[in-house]
Parts: sequence; structure tokens; C-alpha cells
Amino acid sequence: MFDRCRSMILDAVLNPAEIALLPKRDLSNATCVVFDVLRATSSMITGLAHGVAEIRPVRTIEEALALKTELPHAILGGERHGERIDGFDVGNSPFEYRDLAGRTVISTTTNGTVALRACEHADRVLVGAALNLNALAEVISEAQPERLVVVCAGTFEEFALEDAYAAGKLIEAFERDAELTDSARAALAVAKTYADPLDALRQARNGRALSAKGRELEVDWCAQLSRFTVVGQMQEGIIRARPSKGGVKDAVPAESAGAV
Ligand code: MLT
Repeated sequence: MFDRCRSMILDAVLNPAEIALLPKRDLSNATCVVFDVLRATSSMITGLAHGVAEIRPVRTIEEALALKTELPHAILGGERHGERIDGFDVGNSPFEYRDLAGRTVISTTTNGTVALRACEHADRVLVGAALNLNALAEVISEAQPERLVVVCAGTFEEFALEDAYAAGKLIEAFERDAELTDSARAALAVAKTYADPLDALRQARNGRALSAKGRELEVDWCAQLSRFTVVGQMQEGIIRARPSKGGVKDAVPAESAGAV
């Protein structure tokens, strides 16, 4: 699909236990793409596509509240056990991120923001979701990093099927052009198992939990492949939309953003 990425090494981090080791891992010359498809990175991509100015992912509620004192006009967003944190402005639903154009969002979630900060020392950190797979592949193909590490945030302490699925779909774009580790091959196998992304997300533990709470429309939203062309990049703890050739073409009026 893309020019041969020289001898790019393609690796995958598949669960929170591995993520905890990332701060000690040498990630120089590595591009990390963090996936937390249900829902942190999907909400971030949705927000950036709708004009959110910047997102500041932090690990804990305490860090979020401390940053809020420095940035009083920022929006506090995030979840614990899938629900909005008491006193926060928004939770972690992608639908809440469609109406925050121009705003700064301080975000803390159970797994996604932890995973992002765990690889902040990498050469490049990108925000990945099913929602922006093609755009991610284009950025990576242009950058041709020595190492591509897809980071699957997981759910609580566990491997998350939906993250491995989306990461595997990205790996698929480079399958013939890079050297895949066993973990990367495992994620690729997950992607090849599901013809329909909806099946992967609805079967996942987090997908079932969200649907059980009546949030199935959020699961369906997060399953849309390459709905948006925006790619988020984290630099010095701040996520912004990477400038794209044609500008951020994604912002759509709420009424046309699907029936949800
Ligand atoms: C996470 O960070 O673990 C997820 O985004 C949780 C959620 O959004 O429900």
C-alpha cells in the first residue's frame, strides 16, 4: 500500500503491564501510536476533528485538578469506570468532544492517558483510533520511522480486543514493508479475524460494558474506519492536530455528524 519503509521494525505493546515498562524503554527513533479505541483516543480524534485546540492528557485526577489551577479556562474531561468524574465538565464520550471547538481539554482516563504519558519520551507520539487509520498510515509512510510501536492501552489491567484490532488494522498497511515482531503479528491476526469493525468492538469487554449502560451508539461511533483525516500528535504533554496538507477538513456541523 505504501512505499517500502526501508527496514522499519514494527512492534506492538499489547497490555497495561507492558505499558508500565515503557518509561524505562529506549524509544529513541521510535514513533509510538497509542490506541484506546473505547474511548479515550476516539474521543480525542473526534474532538480534534471538530476543532478542539489542544488536549492535555494526565495520569491522575489530582494532576488534572492541579493543571486546571494553571489553566482556569480549560475543560476538565475524563472518566473512572466509564463515568464522568465528579466535578468535571465532561466525561469521555466522543459525542461530548464535538462541541468544544477552540478549547483546551485536560483529560484523565483509566488507561488511555496513562498509555500516552508512558511513551512521551519517544521520538514521536501519535493518537490512534479506528477513526483515523488511513491518515495515520499516511503520516507514518511519510515519516518512515526506524521503529513503529503501536501501543494498545487496554481496559483496567487487561488486554483490550478493540485496541489490538485497530492497531492491527494499522499494521496491515505496512505488513509487507516492515519487519513485524511477534506482538505485531498477534495484533495483525486480531485485525484479520474481524471483517466488520463493529463485531470487534461489540465483542470487546469494554464494548459490552458500554452497551450494557446504553452507550452502544458510542461503540458504533468509535468503530467507523477512517471517518476523520486528523492525526493528533503529543509534544511536551500537549496533543494538537498535526497540520495536514488541506487543513483540518474534518470539522462537520453537529447535525451532519450522524444521527447519534
Ligand atoms: C480508558 O481510558 O480506559 C477508556 O477510555 C475508558 C472509557 O472511556 O470508558
